[in-house]
Order: sequence, then C-alpha cells, then structure tokens
Amino acid sequence: VKDEKDWFAWHHQYDEPTSRLAQRLEIVRSRVRIVLDEAPPGPLRVISAVAGQGRDLLPVLATHPRAADVTARLVELDPRNTAVARSLDSGPAAVEIVTGDASLVDGYAGLAPADLVLLCGLFGNITGEDIRHTILTTRALTRAGGTVIWTRRRDENDATDFIRDVFAEHGFEFVWLSEPSVGFGVGVHRYRDEPDPLPAGERMFTFVGRSELRARGL
Ligand SMILES: C[S@@+](CC[C@H](N)C(=O)[O-])C[C@H]1O[C@@H](n2cnc3c(N)ncnc32)[C@H](O)[C@@H]1O
Repeated sequence: VKDEKDWFAWHHQYDEPTSRLAQRLEIVRSRVRIVLDEAPPGPLRVISAVAGQGRDLLPVLATHPRAADVTARLVELDPRNTAVARSLDSGPAAVEIVTGDASLVDGYAGLAPADLVLLCGLFGNITGEDIRHTILTTRALTRAGGTVIWTRRRDENDATDFIRDVFAEHGFEFVWLSEPSVGFGVGVHRYRDEPDPLPAGERMFTFVGRSELRARGL
C-alpha cells in the first residue's frame, strides 16, 4: 500500500508556533545543538533519514560554530521538501540533499558511520518489526560514540518504551527522553559498539504511514 499523505503540507504545522509539532521541532533542534556543542574537535558527519525539509538540522547548522566541520546527507523522497531544504541556510556546512528512498542502506555509503543520525518522523510510520530492523541497521550508520536522535508520537499506542528498549538491546546507551506529558517523544541514544559494516543492498523499513498502520490495527 502506498503512503498517500501530503508530506509537503505536513510541514506547515511547523509554522504554527503553538502546535505540538513546532514544540517538537524546538526540542529536536536543542538536542542537535547539544550534540554539536559536545562533539570532539575534527570533522563531523551527520545523516538525516526521511529528512523532510531539514528544518531540525539545517537552521542549527546555520548558526553553530562547528558547522564548518560538518558534512551532512539528508535523504527525503518528496522533491517539494528537498527543494525547501536546499533553500535553507546551513552556514559553512557541507550539506548534500538527496531526493530518494531513505530506506535503502546504500544511500548512506561514503557517509556512514556518522557522528549524528537523525531518525525523526519515522518510527510512527513503520511497523514494530521495521522499527527493530531500522535500529539494528543503525548500528552500521553510527560511529562508536555517535548519537541517534529519534521522535515518535505518544498516543494511546505509546511505543517510546519499546523503542528505548530496542536501542538498549542493540548497543545504544540511553541519554535522554522527553517528558511523557508532551504528546510526542524525542529520544537520544549514544552508540557504544564499533559500527557494523553497511549491509549492502538492504532495505531498512517500508514507510507505510500512520493511517495504514492504524487500519491494520498496529
Ligand atoms: C513525518 S515527516 C518527518 C520529516 C522530518 N524528518 C522532520 O521531522 O521534520 C516524514 C517524511 O518522510 C518522507 N518519506 C516517506 N517515505 C520515505 C522514504 N521511503 N524515503 C525518504 N523519505 C520518505 C516524507 O516525504 C516526509 O517528509
């Protein structure tokens, strides 16, 4: 089943300062900033999968003193979103914006393992089995000591504990999770193992979308 949602229009919620999503964005940005603030000197690599318009990462780079050290690759399917991402200021960072399928592991070759991996707006749109598989594959995307930031809506089917446990099972140390009282979860984990080799030719997930997951009772 094809995901039919208008993912360009979805981003308009970011322009409503009181929306839940705008609040989430601020939290993700602050966590990205912390990762850059605390990063050791030297080059830094960043991956953003299902990157949307890159609003969580690019504006942080635009003002961050470490931006010149950053090489980032954002992978997003909708060309309207990648067009917006390309129009955003990211300061002196070297940013590559790819219009393509973020589920394909090959798309991260040359950049993985990264210091920071963003998986925002993904886990609410894929099955639990695919969340597991994506986290397993993130072992190949993240360098030892690197950070993963993810988001997941908190609703009657709150999967944040499940996600947190799966990260722990796969060698990611828990760093931070947003308060349960807000309607979304933002999680931060640090990878402690050596990265796995990139599993060439693999697919991490099928982006089925929230409404299809609901229709299937998931
Ligand atoms: C919930 S939005 C999140 C966007 C961004 N990460 C953020 O948090 O602002 C999900 C995004 O995934 C994109 N998307 C869906 N399937 C994809 C795929 N297979 N590969 C890349 N992007 C995909 C959609 O176009 C949409 O922009």
